[in-house]
Amino acid sequence: MDLMEIIKNRRSIRKYRSDEISQQDLNEIFEAVQLAPSANNLQPWKFILIRNDKKKRLIAQACAGQEFIGEAPVIVVACAIGRGGYIGKYMESWPVDLAIAVTHLILSAWNKGLGTCWIGDFDEDKIREICSIPHVVRVVAITPLGYPVKTVPPTSRRPVERIICQESFSE
Ligand SMILES: Cc1cc2nc3c(=O)[nH]c(=O)nc-3n(C[C@H](O)[C@H](O)[C@H](O)COP(=O)(O)O)c2cc1C
Repeated sequence: MDLMEIIKNRRSIRKYRSDEISQQDLNEIFEAVQLAPSANNLQPWKFILIRNDKKKRLIAQACAGQEFIGEAPVIVVACAIGRGGYIGKYMESWPVDLAIAVTHLILSAWNKGLGTCWIGDFDEDKIREICSIPHVVRVVAITPLGYPVKTVPPTSRRPVERIICQESFSE
C-alpha cells in the first residue's frame, strides 16, 4: 500500500480475530520500528510481546478492563529504557521517541492488514508487575496487534485549514 493510503485507512481496532501473526510479518513490522528516528539516535525503547493468554487477560484488566485488548493474538507493551535526550531544552525526549516508534509499528502493521489500538489508559504499576518491568523503565504505550474482525468507520478530524497557520502563530 502507498503511505497515504495506509494513513487514510488506518483505524483503531477494538475487535480482533484470534489468527496468529506470521513471524515474517512481525519481523518486518519491528524492522520499521527499529528505523524510527529518536533524539540523538538514542533509540530508548524496548517492546515486550505478550502471547500468553493469562497474561493477556491480566493486561486487559490493568488497562481499565478494556477486554478487547486480550482478544488479539499479541499485545505489545512499549517501554522507555533510556534517558538523556531533550527537546527545546525543557522536555525529555523519550516519550516523543516512543510515540514515533509506536506510530511506525501502527502504520507498518496496517500495511500488513493488521490492526492496533493505541492504549494509554493503563495502570503502570500493574503492567510492571505482570511483565516484570524494572522501576527505571517506563511504560509508554500498549497496543493489541491482530487481524481486525471488520472495517471501522473513520473518526472525525479538524479541517487542515484549522491546524496550520502561515508565518506566525494564530488561533
Ligand atoms: C495517547 C493515546 C491514548 C489512547 N488511549 C486509548 C485507550 O486507552 N483505549 C482506546 O480504546 N483507545 C485509545 N486511543 C485511541 C484513540 O481513541 C483513537 O486514536 C482516536 O479516537 C482516533 O480514532 P482512530 O485511531 O480510529 O483514527 C488512544 C490514542 C492515543 C494516541
